[in-house]
Amino acid sequence: MSTDRITYNPAGVLLPEHGLAADALASFAPQLEAAREEVLADAKLWASGGSPPEEKEPLDAGFHEMPERLLAEYREQGSSSEVGRILATADRLTSVVDRVVVLGIGGSYMGARALMEACCHSYHNELPRTARNNRPRISFEGNNVDNDAVQGLLDLLGRGNVAKSVEDRWGIVVISKSGGTLETAAAFRILLRQLQESCANDSTQVADLVVPVTGTSGKLFDLAADLGCKEVYPVPDGVGGRFSILSAVGLLPAAVMGLDIVQLLEGAVAMNDHFRSQPVGDNVVLDYTGVSHLMETQRGCDVRLLSTWGKKLESVGMWYDQLLSESLGKQQQGAMPLTIVNTRDLHSRGQQHQEGKRDKLITNVTIGSCEREPLAIGTNSQDHDELNCLAEKTLPDVLRAATQGTNQAYRDDNRPTADLHLPQLNEHTLGQLFQMLMLATVVEGRLIGINPYGQPGVEAYKKNMNAILRG
Ligand code: PA5
Repeated sequence: MSTDRITYNPAGVLLPEHGLAADALASFAPQLEAAREEVLADAKLWASGGSPPEEKEPLDAGFHEMPERLLAEYREQGSSSEVGRILATADRLTSVVDRVVVLGIGGSYMGARALMEACCHSYHNELPRTARNNRPRISFEGNNVDNDAVQGLLDLLGRGNVAKSVEDRWGIVVISKSGGTLETAAAFRILLRQLQESCANDSTQVADLVVPVTGTSGKLFDLAADLGCKEVYPVPDGVGGRFSILSAVGLLPAAVMGLDIVQLLEGAVAMNDHFRSQPVGDNVVLDYTGVSHLMETQRGCDVRLLSTWGKKLESVGMWYDQLLSESLGKQQQGAMPLTIVNTRDLHSRGQQHQEGKRDKLITNVTIGSCEREPLAIGTNSQDHDELNCLAEKTLPDVLRAATQGTNQAYRDDNRPTADLHLPQLNEHTLGQLFQMLMLATVVEGRLIGINPYGQPGVEAYKKNMNAILRG
């Protein structure tokens, strides 16, 4: 077993006064194991190309074994495999541009953002090029319809200027599985116009600077062909948007950022192995699913707080908010996810969590060791702030005390908490975490009889918006 495996500890929940009886999870093992079998059978059926029964449509189980498939292909075919080509595109873009604008929304956006915030330097975009290992700055758009935000980006990209050097040049990675999402398509049209100006309408250069990630047909696919884009990456059939982080949707932006995408995939493979082989009680996917489900059904905890301890995890939590909401928020079911970032949100939402309704299961996400040298508070000759007594304490010491103190306060009031622990925050542990949460979501869907794939409820607003716009 890899020493950097993420772990789940529900000890703070499995106590009658805090949540569940100590043996609740073990008693629920048969149902969890049956749901696991169903998820494994779904993956097998999907891989065989067989047709699912009507009640399982859509069956987008392609995400499950995608990491194994991509890695095997990379080992066999090297630079001509999809991973090999993604790495080559990322290196090519890196050598010719200083900024990449990633366009996409929902599942075509949240994963890349989560990866950037978790793994890049916290001030990546503000650093000089050499301090970024020459990697481009990354901007996100097409994830909203905010006029002034897009105008601001156009200012930043240098309106009307023809780019003369790598430092001025920028490119676009446009991501849309359907190729028809209005937010992304509108932003692409506006930005493409400015990119053409910045390339002095040189269509060969424009084609090199636009890399689409899209389905195997559709409006964006056709537009890419028309523009002459040579590198177009697929969102594979059978992989839904919010399950696509480990396809080109997340891997291409991550590779542009300089992240180790092989480690990301290997982390996901390690989680798949763990999920398949470990029993309830030692299986992070099944244990997390079981405790969350039992707390909802037996204790009415239908708010799931992902309580992240570290700024770098905020967008990972937002990615999970989408995954859980769109997968299980159907037929008037599904818990409400909410991500908080501590200690920041202890000063805003903390009051409600400590003394508000007893409708929350709090899952802490903690990180074992920082990447950088721990900073000590240090001494000051004036000591106006009276911190000299803590001079030796480091920021990680303070965070640890806050984590322990907060959980103690919850425990003292019989408020349940569980812990999801990442030994370090890196591509391998994140690969595990993303795969764990995707698997847990589909296992829970099978457990409660909700199809975790598809998002029929999102269509209503799109239909109305289009009707309003097009008259
Ligand atoms: O999870 C999903 O499928 C959605 O959130 C989509 O990712 C989102 O609606 C964007 O769709 P598309 O990639 O087709 O532009």
